[in-house]
Order: sequence, then structure tokens, then C-alpha cells
Amino acid sequence: MEIDLLLRVAIAFLKDMNLEEFKKLVYETQFLLADINSFESEKLPKDSVKEHNKSHQPLDIKEPEFHIVSPRYEAEILLGYILNMTRVELHTHAKKEVTDFDKQRYFKMLAMRKNGMPLEYLTNRATFYDLELYINDKVLIPRHETELLVEHALEIIKAHNITHFVEVGVGSGAISAAILTHTEETCVVATDISKEALNVARYNMQQLGLESRCEFVESDLLLSPYLIMRKPITLLVSNPPYIANNYPLNQEVLCEPHIALFGGENGDEILKKLIVQAREKQIQFLICEMGYDQKESMQEALLNSGYKPTFYKDYAGFDRGFIAKLMF
Ligand SMILES: C[S@@+](CC[C@H](N)C(=O)[O-])C[C@H]1O[C@@H](n2cnc3c(N)ncnc32)[C@H](O)[C@@H]1O
Repeated sequence: MEIDLLLRVAIAFLKDMNLEEFKKLVYETQFLLADINSFESEKLPKDSVKEHNKSHQPLDIKEPEFHIVSPRYEAEILLGYILNMTRVELHTHAKKEVTDFDKQRYFKMLAMRKNGMPLEYLTNRATFYDLELYINDKVLIPRHETELLVEHALEIIKAHNITHFVEVGVGSGAISAAILTHTEETCVVATDISKEALNVARYNMQQLGLESRCEFVESDLLLSPYLIMRKPITLLVSNPPYIANNYPLNQEVLCEPHIALFGGENGDEILKKLIVQAREKQIQFLICEMGYDQKESMQEALLNSGYKPTFYKDYAGFDRGFIAKLMF
């Protein structure tokens, strides 16, 4: 089976074509029907989505539809991943034969993608800032809007000659890795409540040659005894979970660890706790991401704890985060 034919079928499948139509297409393009039967039996993440939405969502709110925006791009990325070829190479080797083994792996991945599994989890790769990171389903897929938080952190670090900072909820390590690669002498204490996330962050820091500038601490926010004993912290950065528990999400987002997404009934509970704990530790600067509708509650929480906030918006113009300075 040749690359170009396989791609044609894959693109058609990733478009909104139902299984019956797809089988017909496969039949017409002379594929063995047995090859795609795995599509039906494949264990898919949809169930966990239904579970979440059933338990959290009011009956009249429907989860947003998931559909693949760029079927050609994604079909090529997945085939390139399996064959270890770039997208350009797929086209320059369009007549190359794909083995049955690789074809089966490809079909399996396409089926998982069609059912909502994020591309980044299938390829174990994500890009953030100017970095390529290893990603698995134990960590949030870093979002481009979080690059704004990195920009603000770099400004504060440079303006105040900060050499050490703490990140709460390091996940894949995206934020800390971007800050470390764009500053020369900074070091980070990277924390997360999830051991598995810390393992991913550690692996990424090793791959990027940044490990000697990082400490990894398993901690619920700032409560670890290690952090309590630690010398003063000047800067804290965090993109904590801030989505309200009952907020309807599509199946793609719900594949991400729920501990990385949901911040409580209102969504802002974890951020509020973090602000109080940061004040107790006299942390001078806080730079945090937040929900688009949390500006008011964050303003109140920050002022009550003695912080003066400045808010920033994301690329779509929504309130997305704050930089706060301790006033007294
Ligand atoms: C939204 S993700 C952010 C991951 C990464 N920093 C990024 O921006 O891509 C939030 C992270 O916070 C962690 N987390 C959730 N609750 C926490 C808590 N109470 N204390 C520390 N980390 C927590 C999650 O495990 C997850 O890795």
C-alpha cells in the first residue's frame, strides 16, 4: 500500500465521514475491510468524556462538539510519526510502500484521533515557545497563550535581577523550561502535586540540558515542608487548574488530566489558596494564569492579601492572567 493512497483514506476518515461511508471508501480504494475493523473495537477515550459530563453537567448544557480542523495536516503528522519521515518526505516518497504492520498502527492512531485523543498525546510531542517537549497523558498540553506568562516572567526577572523562582504546577515543564532557556543564571524549584507530571518535567529538563538548574518537589501548592523551610522566594509563577468543575468541555480537552484542568466548583479556588499561601511566605511577585471570568475575584483576593495586581489579556482579548507585587 502506497503512502499517497493511505493518506487519501486517512484524510477522508478524519473529515466528518461516518464509519459506513468510510468503509465504502476503503472498499472502493481496494483496502481489505478487515484492516479497519479495529476502528470499531478500539478502546476510545469517549467513555471518560461521557462520565465527566454526566456527573458534572446540568442536563440542558451540551458539551461543545469536537471536530478535526485540519484533517490533511493531522493525517500527515501521524503518518510521518509512524514512518519517521517529515511531511515533505511523505510527498517526495509518495509511492513508497507502507508495511501492513505500520498501516495497522496508523489506523489505530487515526481511530483514536477521530475519537478525540489529542494529536500531542499520540505523537508524544508538543511545541511551546521555541521548545519541543515530550508530552504524555499525565500532563496538560501546553497552550500558546501561556507563552504570555513566560514573557511577563522574563520581564520581571530581568528588571529585578531575580535568580531563583518557584513554579507551582509545573506539568510538562513548559513554563520553567522556556524561562530557563531565555535567562542565564536563573534556577527554579519546580513543584507539582502529581509525581507523574514531575517525571515528565524532569525528563524534559534533562533533554534540554537544564536539569542542573532545577529542583523538583512534590507538593500541594506551597505546603511541602521543603518549601516551608526554604529561604525567601522572590517570584512565583503558576498556571494552576482554574476551570470550574461543571464547565462543559469537549472530548479532546477531557483527555487531559482532570487534576490539571479543574480548580473547584467556581474554578478559582486553587488560585485563591495559592495567593494566601504566597502572602504567608512573603513572596514579592506572583505571575499567574487565570480563567477569562476571574478578574474580579482575583483582584479581590490579591488586594486582601496585600498584592497590587496588573491584569493581562490573551491573544483573543480575554482576561488571562495577572502580575502582582506585594505592597507591604
Ligand atoms: C494547568 S496545568 C499547568 C501545567 C504547565 N505548567 C503548563 O502551563 O502547561 C496545572 C498543573 O498543576 C498541577 N496541580 C493541580 N493541583 C495542584 C496542587 N494543589 N498543588 C500543586 N500542583 C497542582 C497539575 O498536576 C498540573 O500539572
